[in-house]
Amino acid sequence: MIQFWSFSNEYKNLRPKILKSIDKSLKSGNIFFGKELQKFEKKFIKYYNFKYGVSVGSGTDAILIALLGLGIGHGDEVITVSNTAIPTVSAIKSCGSDVRFVDINDNYLIDSNKIEKYISKKTKAIIPVHLYGQACDMDRICNIAKRFKLKIIEDCAQAQGAKYKNRYVGSIGDAGCFSFYPTKILGAYGDGGFISTNSFQLYKKIKRIRFYGIEMSDPKNRYYKKYYANEHGTNSRISEMQAAILNLKLPQVKLWIKQRRKLAKIYSQELKGTSLQLPIENVKCKHVFHLYVVYHSKRDKIVKKLKENNIQTNINYPFPIHKMKAYKNRILKKSNYLPMTEKIAKGIFSLPLYPKLKENKVLKITKILQKILRSI
Ligand SMILES: Cc1ncc(COP(=O)(O)O)c(C=O)c1O
Repeated sequence: MIQFWSFSNEYKNLRPKILKSIDKSLKSGNIFFGKELQKFEKKFIKYYNFKYGVSVGSGTDAILIALLGLGIGHGDEVITVSNTAIPTVSAIKSCGSDVRFVDINDNYLIDSNKIEKYISKKTKAIIPVHLYGQACDMDRICNIAKRFKLKIIEDCAQAQGAKYKNRYVGSIGDAGCFSFYPTKILGAYGDGGFISTNSFQLYKKIKRIRFYGIEMSDPKNRYYKKYYANEHGTNSRISEMQAAILNLKLPQVKLWIKQRRKLAKIYSQELKGTSLQLPIENVKCKHVFHLYVVYHSKRDKIVKKLKENNIQTNINYPFPIHKMKAYKNRILKKSNYLPMTEKIAKGIFSLPLYPKLKENKVLKITKILQKILRSI
């Protein structure tokens, strides 16, 4: 069986180091907010040239806390896409705002030509989702945000290390939100997330929100008071053990992205000229291929045959969010509201791709896939 994703080979290689670093973190006597976390936050910021950054408990929390930090809440509207992971939208709803969905382009990313149509007096922010590992059209999005005085929260959960022109995602908008869910570009062995920002004020605020609203950055700080909330906050943090694992893995991320790009290139070369619609890479940007997503109108048949050949695939995502019971509303019930989103949800599927996947396995997948495509 070729698995869609697996971390067993990675763990086999890193096991002695991981066990040692977990032991070290436990021996330190700190479970939270110790040296491992401090080191990780510093290293992550430096790795991507961010000005400031704060770790949080998950990518979902990162989006929610960024929204709260920017003062977005009840009565406000936030613009994003329906072709994304549920958490992009659940975070918007959790802060009390309403969501406005914009259709996607050929890259399966927010169609920047269509954003303005959805801006109202209530609109406060845009969340461009750098889905599958590719950056959205940030020049255009920044231009719109500036003209309409909107905040930009980049959803970088799938795109750590991706670049828009020469800039890393997460350094362009008001805040960048990352996920360390195990399958992601940098995965913990549990949950984790991060918020990057260029604003010192926002940095200080999100740092308080993630810890019950307490000003805890520096006990010498004149605002520091133990067990005293300066504002309404929550609890969202990464444990020392997870931070130790992330510290160990972070230096390898650039190499892993290189390997992802290499495997994606093999897929693209071998599947070129078939009836599959392959990912379109924006040449000005660096795609990190968190996922290799293809489209075919006979998707279900192909996926079934791949399964019969012991190849696992995934669908990211089979249901547009505006069609889900939890998030649809009166306007969104209209059919063909987001034509591209609705069309591709019926035909996209993702092929196995992770750094430890062997190149000969990718070649095997493409051979079998070519055969299936000829037969349908
Ligand atoms: C696009 C996107 N946004 C947000 C998230 C939320 O991240 P997490 O699972 O760490 O909460 C994910 C991960 O599933 C994601 O893929």
